[in-house]
Amino acid sequence: MSATLIDGKAVAETVKAKVKEGAEYLRTEYNITPGLATVLVGERPDSRVYVASKQKACADLGMNSYGKTLPADISQGELLDVVEGLARDPNVHGILVQLPLPGHLDAETILRAVPIEKDVDGFSPLNVGRLSMKNREPMFVPCTPLGCLYLIDSVGTQIEGANAVVLGRSNIVGLPMSFLLLHRNATVTICHSRTRDLPGITRNADILVAAIGRPKFVKADWVKPGATVIDVGINEVPDATKKSGKRLVGDVDFDAVKEVAGAITPVPGGVGPMTIAMLMQNTLTAAQRAAGLIK
Ligand code: GUN
Repeated sequence: MSATLIDGKAVAETVKAKVKEGAEYLRTEYNITPGLATVLVGERPDSRVYVASKQKACADLGMNSYGKTLPADISQGELLDVVEGLARDPNVHGILVQLPLPGHLDAETILRAVPIEKDVDGFSPLNVGRLSMKNREPMFVPCTPLGCLYLIDSVGTQIEGANAVVLGRSNIVGLPMSFLLLHRNATVTICHSRTRDLPGITRNADILVAAIGRPKFVKADWVKPGATVIDVGINEVPDATKKSGKRLVGDVDFDAVKEVAGAITPVPGGVGPMTIAMLMQNTLTAAQRAAGLIK
């Protein structure tokens, strides 16, 4: 292996330890316990797992979590009532609506009901709009791309002036990631399912972020030697050697790409733990702002 392994689990632990200290300080000095509300609609197994790990992180860091688990057939009006109730609750500093929502619900309307000062996921239209403009400050930035940026910085990769290629244009990862890199003065190329000559573009990337949800899609000869490669993919593939019969792999062919890249995140143990660490950091920030301690 020639690449530096970017240990997202270890970096996330460091971030969470700081957040825990901050939460402890708020509690002892101001009698405020940071609180995160999680809204889960329906039965998607992946969403249930994500929400459960966010709630566990709250407990681990001395924060409150308020879980709302709602039936898949809830009406738009009923869900809006739940979110508006959380918006009014002074014990709730952050609100997270787990996505995707069932198809009959209008995610944008629901996300608009999250006040920007509680929008710890950074998904409300106002925060998204601010992130996508020059010289505007969103109150919160989406957690997965924020975690990716943190990992890129953790290995000292220069972002300014770098060619950054983002594979994927989702609202949750690809688009906000592209704006974060652009605001750090990278030259950003966003690739997607209709992009021509993908390998020709990725080979030019000093920073490559893969967020397309296709197992081992990025091959070694797509990667510039020495590049920093961030793998956001979490894909289940069959594996007869495992008790569960499956294992997780990223969007990058890790075993091959690690011989070419300068630094690379593993899956699992790369970006995944950072998403939760950033959510906890955002929730602490929301509570500190509510207490008037920071802007
Ligand atoms: N679905 C997939 N990733 C995320 C995330 O970071 N936040 C929320 N709310 N939903 C998601």
